[in-house]
Amino acid sequence: MSQPRPRADPTWGFTTLAAHAGEGLEPGAWQPTSTPIHNASGFVMPSFDALDEVFEGKRPGYFYSRDGNPTVRAFEAGIAQLECAPLAVAFSSGMAAIHGALLTAELKPGDTIVSTVDCYGLTRVLLQSHFVAQGAHVQFVDMADVGAVERALDGRPKVLYLETISNPLVKVFDVPRLAAMARAAGVYSLVDNTFASPYLLRPVEHGADLVIHSATKYIGGHGDVTGGTVAAATEELGGRLRRVVKLLGALLGPNEAWLCHRGVKTLSLRMARQCDNALEVARWLEADPRVGRVYYPGLPSHEQHELAGCLFGGRYGAMIAFDLPDGNRDRVRRFIDALELVQPAPTLGDLRTLTLYPAQASHRGLTAEQRHAVGIGDGLVRLSVGIEDPPDLLADLDHALDSAGG
Ligand SMILES: Cc1ncc(COP(=O)(O)O)c(C=O)c1O
Repeated sequence: MSQPRPRADPTWGFTTLAAHAGEGLEPGAWQPTSTPIHNASGFVMPSFDALDEVFEGKRPGYFYSRDGNPTVRAFEAGIAQLECAPLAVAFSSGMAAIHGALLTAELKPGDTIVSTVDCYGLTRVLLQSHFVAQGAHVQFVDMADVGAVERALDGRPKVLYLETISNPLVKVFDVPRLAAMARAAGVYSLVDNTFASPYLLRPVEHGADLVIHSATKYIGGHGDVTGGTVAAATEELGGRLRRVVKLLGALLGPNEAWLCHRGVKTLSLRMARQCDNALEVARWLEADPRVGRVYYPGLPSHEQHELAGCLFGGRYGAMIAFDLPDGNRDRVRRFIDALELVQPAPTLGDLRTLTLYPAQASHRGLTAEQRHAVGIGDGLVRLSVGIEDPPDLLADLDHALDSAGG
């Protein structure tokens, strides 16, 4: 076969698209069923002039893996297809992707970034340390309060930064409305879609400019890779993003890209199962007197339950947070140390169920006052629900809650 068969049709359903996304891009005498790992730091040019032609985009090809690599490009194409974006760029981690997206907005000294207040802890540290040191102003607002966002946009910021589902309190934000408000105000909207994954929401479809993932999480899905992506809503933003990743030297490596791409293929199946499991676990936790408040968008008690239903089409993600009553570090320690199936690990989105104590891990960089101000109490535990059989998970949680004691 001389022409590769196109393997992704945007009219396909999400599961079909995910299974095929990014594949079949490689021209050649034969077409592998899955894009292979191209472990090459550079690419040999067929002629002297070919290098100029590849550099100038007049000829398809690659010259140096820091700038582009076929395995990485296949993964990027897959993410772009899933996120309904013209282009996506892979980064070496989610943090590199966040950094790259913010640089793509071309912030100047004096520009303001309006960010959701309860974002991932290290994002907040990045904004407060690095970007403030570069002369940017950072304003944190509760993005569930649309009026507060409106007022912040009146100040003519450069960037509106939010997470589809916040970390760790799983607040759900009205991405279509906030992105439309940002666009009307001439402000870039950057959405970290890690917790939702494109399975639940594709923010570019709703007007977001740049959509970020820590691919370490649901995209990779197996706890065996670190990576990040940014999908751009326009070719122009995508071009800037490519330049940024090159200057940062932060492109994902081919081995990691291959693992992330393999994760994409089963994203839909894993997410469906993980969301269903999470709903079951959240309901069980909420009914248990040994547990305080449970935060999960699928529960009617969640503040944005209806919004989440509209945005996500009937599933609610696989992240849960809950308070151990009279919460304190000692009780959380007893709970976590008693778990046998659920794994304590400072990550999420894995197909195995994981737990984390935000005050100790994801939000360690915040002071106790900052954590309390956004509602992260000393007894708050985060659960990333996996694909296991729910009775096994509930049995493990049950005996750990007993061990946590009163
Ligand atoms: C919502 C969110 N965004 C970004 C990141 C950073 O991703 P990475 O760990 O791949 O750098 C994390 C990490 O936990 C996260 O939870």
